[in-house]
Amino acid sequence: MSIFKLKSLIRIACPKRISPYLEQELIKLGYTPDLVDDTGAELMGSLADCMKLNLWLRTAHRVLFLIDEFEAHHPDDLYKNLLNTPWEEYIPSDGYVSVGSHVLEESINDTRFANMRAKDAIVDRILSKTNTRPDSGPKDDKTVLFLHWKEGQASIFIDTSGETIARHGYRQQPWKAPMQETLATAVLMSTGYNGEQNLINPMCGSGTLAIEAALIATNTAPGLMRSNFGFMHLIGFDFSQWKTLRKEADQAIKPCKGRIIATDIHGGAINAIRENARLAEVDDIIEFRVCPFEETNLPKEGGILVMNPAYGERLGENEELVSLYASIGDFLKQKAQGYKAYIFTGNLELAKKIGLKASKRIEFYNANIDCRLLEFELYAGSKRIPNSDPRTERNNEEE
Ligand SMILES: C[S@@+](CC[C@H](N)C(=O)[O-])C[C@H]1O[C@@H](n2cnc3c(N)ncnc32)[C@H](O)[C@@H]1O
Repeated sequence: MSIFKLKSLIRIACPKRISPYLEQELIKLGYTPDLVDDTGAELMGSLADCMKLNLWLRTAHRVLFLIDEFEAHHPDDLYKNLLNTPWEEYIPSDGYVSVGSHVLEESINDTRFANMRAKDAIVDRILSKTNTRPDSGPKDDKTVLFLHWKEGQASIFIDTSGETIARHGYRQQPWKAPMQETLATAVLMSTGYNGEQNLINPMCGSGTLAIEAALIATNTAPGLMRSNFGFMHLIGFDFSQWKTLRKEADQAIKPCKGRIIATDIHGGAINAIRENARLAEVDDIIEFRVCPFEETNLPKEGGILVMNPAYGERLGENEELVSLYASIGDFLKQKAQGYKAYIFTGNLELAKKIGLKASKRIEFYNANIDCRLLEFELYAGSKRIPNSDPRTERNNEEE
């Protein structure tokens, strides 16, 4: 039976602390997950659903389609069980297979060994049924399988993404300490950004936040920027079905309503964001400028301001950063009334130097660093309107 006719469990993997945003995305796409945990979500569906999820999801790392589950306490159990699956019906015998895994199993010291045994079983099965052996190796641009093997329980999935969908494909120009695209989207979603507000991103670096904002605002599916996915390397893949999905996504693109302003003190960062935005086809939407953050033009209608200053783990030294964070506080107090401002940082001691009381502290990880997105509501009018209630300003001050 064609694998494209099967229904099975779909596991969508995402980084830690991002699954609430993944769940929101799934619901918006019309899916109700049966389970949401620390590192992903699960639902029942077909490979057609996997195609749609790969095309649209902004916060996911990969979309896995379950093929089989069994008990295994030894690599030989793994091998024997995997020989029972009709891989020759799913994987082209003249194709290329790679196996990735997450293994926490007593009998395995090196996950590469588990991957190799899994790959051997798959390739041997195909050889025995077709007399041809697919190539195999570490490249993840063809058919990719994923083994989850923990405490005697093994699950084998087709990784329908192949190369991770965490990379949205536009970031070709590197700059200092870029944020992962999935994290940038989750940060924007947590601010309530929906593309209709102004989005101001001083200290934009290579521009992940501003570019992801432009993609959200224009309802551009991130998968439109990619031409290769794991599901394309399965027997029965129908290119015309994929073309239809892409066409629908193309037709769903809409104009951006709010303004998106990205600034950075370094010309090199602005060159990088310009080039990355061009690749994402949103360079005509974002307004770029080289300037210190204090000189960023803030439209008077207000909006959302997001900044990701260095926080001492990867860039800069702490002493310089103390005064930088204090200046960010001054800038917010003096110039950003009417804005909801968000500072993303991995250093809470530095964050205190901002000198404003955060109305929310949203938890994230950046790689393995425990980070916070601090929200500051900067009420409009406290500076400019005479006789305004002075408590409004003071309410924002850190006690
Ligand atoms: C951590 S990086 C931002 C990374 C960005 N979120 C991304 O995804 O690429 C911090 C940025 O702040 C910029 N920067 C440092 N001091 C600044 C200042 N005083 N005014 C404006 N930008 C500044 C740096 O040039 C750097 O690009």
